[in-house]
Parts: sequence; C-alpha cells; structure tokens
Amino acid sequence: MAKNTLDDYKKDQKDYSIDTSKKVRVGIIGTGWIAGDHIREYLKMPDVELVAVADLIDGKAEAFLKKNGAEGVKVYRTHKELIDNEKLDAVSVCTYNMQHAPCAIYALEHGVNVLLEKPMCVTMEEAEAIMKAEKKSGKIVSIGFQPRFNPNMQMIKKIVESGELGKIYHIIIGGGRRRGIPTPYGTTFIEKETGGLGALGDIGCYALDMVLNGMGYPKPLRVSGRTTDYFGKADDYKYKDVFGVDDFAIGFVRLENDLTIDFKTAWAMNVDSMGDTIIMGTKAGLKIPSSGHWGSIDAPLKLYRNIGDTAVETVIPMSKEPEEGVFYWKIRTFLDAVKYGGPAPVPTSQVIYNQAILSGVAESAKLGKEIEIVIPEI
Ligand SMILES: NC(=O)c1ccc[n+]([C@@H]2O[C@H](COP(=O)([O-])OP(=O)(O)OC[C@H]3O[C@@H](n4cnc5c(N)ncnc54)[C@H](O)[C@@H]3O)[C@@H](O)[C@H]2O)c1
Repeated sequence: MAKNTLDDYKKDQKDYSIDTSKKVRVGIIGTGWIAGDHIREYLKMPDVELVAVADLIDGKAEAFLKKNGAEGVKVYRTHKELIDNEKLDAVSVCTYNMQHAPCAIYALEHGVNVLLEKPMCVTMEEAEAIMKAEKKSGKIVSIGFQPRFNPNMQMIKKIVESGELGKIYHIIIGGGRRRGIPTPYGTTFIEKETGGLGALGDIGCYALDMVLNGMGYPKPLRVSGRTTDYFGKADDYKYKDVFGVDDFAIGFVRLENDLTIDFKTAWAMNVDSMGDTIIMGTKAGLKIPSSGHWGSIDAPLKLYRNIGDTAVETVIPMSKEPEEGVFYWKIRTFLDAVKYGGPAPVPTSQVIYNQAILSGVAESAKLGKEIEIVIPEI
C-alpha cells in the first residue's frame, strides 16, 4: 500500500523497510537547479535504478552527472529521445514551467509515471491535457510540493480537521519576498517562453497549496486578479530586457462553501512582508507566520479565540522536520506509489484547483475583470 503522509510512515515505522527486490527504473528530464535535489535523493534509494537523464543544453547533462558522481548513467538531449529509447517506470520532470506539460504528457503516453515539479503547468488547457493523459495511461502524476511532508505544515490540516476553528469563511495569504527575483543559474524563471508565469506560479503555488491542502482543496469558483512587473522592468534591473512575467500578483478568489481567499505573492516589493497567513474561522483564527523561504514554517502557529469575554492565544508547539528532509519524502512517497499502484501522494485532482487559481489570476489580470473558473470534467 502506498503511503501519502509522514504520519502514514510513522505509524508503522518499525516495520517500514524498502523492498529492494523490485527496482524502479527512473529518468530525469531537465538537469538544472532542482534536478540536483532529485538525483541526490534517487541515488540514496536502494530500490532505484537511475537509467538516464536528458537536457536540451549541450554538455549540461554530462556535467550534472559528473557533479553528482553518477557518470555511466545514459544521457539524451530531449525528453522524447529519453522516453523513446529507454524502458522506464518513472520520470522526474525538472524542466522550466513551459515544458512541464509536453514532457509529462509524452511520458504518460508512453506508460511512464511522472513526478512533476511545481507549479503543475502554466495554463488550464495544459492542466486538462495532463489529467486526460494521466487517466488514459492508468499511470500517476504527483506534483512536487515537498512542504506537504513538513509536520508543521501538516499541523495546519490537523487543526482545520479538528473543527477547532469552526466554520472557515476567509483566508488571507501573506508573505512575499522583499528582493528575490530568481535568477540563480540563468533567466529561465523570468522569460515568458520558459517561465510562463512569474512569482504567481513560482511561489504563489506554494502559498496556495499550504492553505488549500489544509482546507481539503475546496473548489474555486471565481477570481479577480492583477499582476505587475515594476521590479523586473525597472531601468536599473540587469535582466529588464528579457523579463517577461509578473513579479507581483494578487487575487480575490471565491470558492465553494462560502469561502474567500485574499491571495498575494511577490518576488520583489518595498516592504519586508505582506503579513502572515491567516485562516479566519467562527470559533478561532489561525495565524501562520510568514517565512523567509518557501516550504517551511520557522515560527509557531498561533490559535486565537475567546473563552467567554477573555481573548486567548494558544501557541502550537513546533515539530521537528523529518531527519531525512522533506525532499526525501517527496521522492519516497512517489516511488512507493509507483511500486504499489498509487494513489499519487500529491494528486493532480487536487492541484488542478491550485492551477485554476494561478491561471485564473493571470487571465483575469489580462482581461481586467473578474472571471469564472471552469474546472474541466476529466
Ligand atoms: N520543488 C522545489 O523546491 C523547486 C525549487 C526550484 C525549482 N523548482 C521547479 O523546478 C522546475 C525547474 O527549475 P530549475 O530551477 O531547475 O530550472 P533550470 O532552468 O535551472 O533547469 C531546467 C532545465 O530543463 C531543461 N529542459 C527544458 N525542457 C527540456 C526538455 N524538453 N528536454 C530536456 N531538457 C529540458 C533546460 O535545458 C534546463 O537545463 C521549475 O518548474 C521550478 O518551478 C522546484
């Protein structure tokens, strides 16, 4: 049986050992920044045979293998060459956002399970095509949200499910980066042709997954969004000529069950934070402190409520991150789902709602008005 959460593994930790009698044949598509984390974890897994990697840029995949001590693994240029020439059980799609859908769909059409980096993709048309290919193939797609394996993130869901907050009617998402347009190894995040979406897709997707997963992924209905690019296009910004995405995005989202979300995200702004994330309930409110980096909670969650006329605050004790790290568990849960027949640890059936909000904010911003969110029937 596949396990989807850290708790599932903890329950039978004593008995849990990796069955090495069955090897999972894995490929990695795209050998840039995040692929380094994928290969590091795959090389630790005793039940993985890393078969091949691919990258469009000449020599990049070879250098990547050398750096990670994995010379001998086969190298291809494109995702198609890799998938056409090797018999694989699974691939990690570690390409820039605009190549997520073509790579994932091609893998699924060839019977290969997919660990797809976040965000799921760029447009709702792509999301629909990925889910259709997934359904047709009978394989799984899991989206690369490693914060799901952080126990403090999991606490948000536990608190919501406990009923302590009462009816949740509004969520305010805070955070954002003061200065943090990501150009660590090039400009693939900020060019339209490769990134597709800017801060909205890059870190907005994490902020949304944190609260939507906590809430059990309610369905979004309508959104009014706005995006700007004042920092990316600033006269003194060195990449202004290639900058083609948003560096700031906001959205007011109406969801089912009388819930609204005030969503905002930024790669750059002239303030240290747009505040903490707040889940507002009729019995209590939950404050999730904004963190300097994504996917972690660096300070305790706080619960606010009244006992009679007295305002009470409860500090939720912090839990330690798993010693193997959250990335290990992102890969481990995916591999177990592949070996034991699913379900995907982070399924597309949930993340399509996240994608619908991201794509909806972008679309609404372009049109300058609120739009209806249509979730396709797959
Ligand atoms: N989960 C995380 O913590 C995390 C962190 C960083 C980035 N990401 C995500 O990972 C993805 C990649 O980010 P990155 O920083 O590694 O980007 P990157 O630009 O450093 O690397 C992407 C690589 O993919 C290659 N590529 C693109 N299309 C290809 C194709 N069809 N076939 C073969 N190679 C192809 C490019 O040549 C490039 O080398 C992005 O979607 C990003 O959002 C996730």
